[in-house]
Amino acid sequence: MVIAAVLAGGIGSRMGNSALPKQFLPLGSKPVIIHTIEKFLVHPQVDQVVVLCPRAWVGYTQDLMREQLPGEPRAAVAEGGETRNDTLRRALDYAAEQFGTQEDHLLLTHDAVRPFVTHRIISENIAAAAAYGACDTVIPATDTIVQSADGQTISVIPDRKTMFQGQTPQSFRVNKLRELMASLTAEEQEILTDACKIYALRGEPVALVAGETYNMKITYPFDLKVAQSLLNLEGTAKHD
Ligand code: CTP
Repeated sequence: MVIAAVLAGGIGSRMGNSALPKQFLPLGSKPVIIHTIEKFLVHPQVDQVVVLCPRAWVGYTQDLMREQLPGEPRAAVAEGGETRNDTLRRALDYAAEQFGTQEDHLLLTHDAVRPFVTHRIISENIAAAAAYGACDTVIPATDTIVQSADGQTISVIPDRKTMFQGQTPQSFRVNKLRELMASLTAEEQEILTDACKIYALRGEPVALVAGETYNMKITYPFDLKVAQSLLNLEGTAKHD
């Protein structure tokens, strides 16, 4: 079974003063989060979508989904957590509680604010998570990455050819990730803010899936303008 978790538990503080968390802001004719949910619902291999949002926004999200995706039985809403990792943990618990703990269950975790995820990226996540147990969606780094321990001077400049930028989805076998998360010490929990890092720390493989530059994350107001332009371009391409 393939379960997609749309991580929408944040409040979008870097977006500035907005009455709505950024995942609910309009992009074209519908909210950002609806674009994202639809990408998973239309994928034939995805069995269920769960949207995890802040507690105060659960009712709002349910109403929004009833209005925008009427009669859709494969989409549910659950409460997110304090941090992104807490939200991921809740998604894992939700998957195990609702659908059981069969070995072949996969969880695709995706940022609600990446509405341009593609059919290919989702297909390749499913295949890679099934084959390797875990996968991360990445694009090759285009800028040179400069590492600095003190923020004042350069510590090291890694070879760009070995550098990638992480996107989402990040996908996992549900049981394996639950097992790994349960094994973390309190100290490890503090530093392991990325689920794929847990696998790396434990020497477990994480396959790479090729992302797309346009599978962008909406973080700042500027990003929403870029997203709007991308959507307009998509519309133009369809009518070419
Ligand atoms: N996220 C989540 N649960 C949290 C925090 C974040 O599910 N407790 C989700 C966000 O809703 C978003 C994704 O993780 O879809 C990527 O995080 P980010 O862009 O940092 O979102 P926010 O935390 O909302 O933004 P900010 O850091 O500006 O407040």
